[in-house]
Amino acid sequence: MKITLAQQSNLENIDYDNLPFGVNFTDHMLVCHFENGAWQEPEIRPFGNLNATFALHALHYGQAAFEGMKAYRNQEGEVALFRPERNWERLNKSAERLLMPQVPHEVFIDGLKKLIEIDQAWVPQDEVKSLYIRPYLFSSSEFIAARPSERYTFAIICSPVGPYYAGAVKVKIEDVFTRAASGGIGFTKAAGNYGGAFYPTAKAIEEGYNQVIWTDHANHELIEESGTMNIMLRIGDKMITPPLTDRILAGITRDSIVTLLREWGHDVEERPIKVAEVVEAARNGELKEAFGMGTAAVVSVIQQIGFKGERFDIPTPEDGIASKIRKGLNDIRLGRVEDTHNWMVKV
Ligand code: COI
Repeated sequence: MKITLAQQSNLENIDYDNLPFGVNFTDHMLVCHFENGAWQEPEIRPFGNLNATFALHALHYGQAAFEGMKAYRNQEGEVALFRPERNWERLNKSAERLLMPQVPHEVFIDGLKKLIEIDQAWVPQDEVKSLYIRPYLFSSSEFIAARPSERYTFAIICSPVGPYYAGAVKVKIEDVFTRAASGGIGFTKAAGNYGGAFYPTAKAIEEGYNQVIWTDHANHELIEESGTMNIMLRIGDKMITPPLTDRILAGITRDSIVTLLREWGHDVEERPIKVAEVVEAARNGELKEAFGMGTAAVVSVIQQIGFKGERFDIPTPEDGIASKIRKGLNDIRLGRVEDTHNWMVKV
């Protein structure tokens, strides 16, 4: 691996008490190109510009996918990544569906560990702040024929972040627009899945919501995801989340939460949830809690759900499951309990 260190660190110019999400970047990044059918030597170098013409393939055809993951500093001061192998595997699932080359383990995992080791001073020791890591893969040939690229670029950039949302969110159950269709790319972290969500989300924001709850493409009858996150509902004494299909992203936070809840003795159902069931439960007070689950926000509490003009307030108990799970994950990430699942990987 080629390593070129930055002449000067920018760390002292970053205000850790005011960290907007994904705006500040660490001193270094990793870059690796795939060309002539083979991965080239990865390089860690100072964070900087992309060297490309306006014919860059990914800009035209969206052959691009990303990951979101985080590094934490535990109470002993050690820096560790949360379940990085899962992100590597998922990026390669996205790559396969988007006809991009598989990123080798040594490029993704070894490169990532080295990068975080170099920029480890940027990882805060905190309940709500962490180092967000953005690995991504995109087509980097420079032609505009509508065919797969021949060159690809894998990169990792890192950004110290605070909380993703300021507080509990209001969400609208979407009954017109669709995030993903069966046979499509909803299960991938394709760039376009997010770009395509901006317009419906902007419409929901105009109506006073923060996000949309996506429903199925066929009839808008089934709950799928909440904004950029998986969704968990507490109805009666059950925790319910939609099952993983090819329309739903297999969230690593989702998997971790389902695992912990089951270990703690909660009844977790992974099953199709009808919009009608949620609306009915919200109406009769059976919907006790709702939250999104994702890397960026970790747990995003939902305080209101809107459907066809009706709005239902959802309880947001301070000692609810959302708080319990947030604390449970933090206990593992900050090393306050034994990491029995081996989720933390030290750099
Ligand atoms: C995540 O929570 O992991 C996301 O994908 C959010 C990201 C698009 C900022």
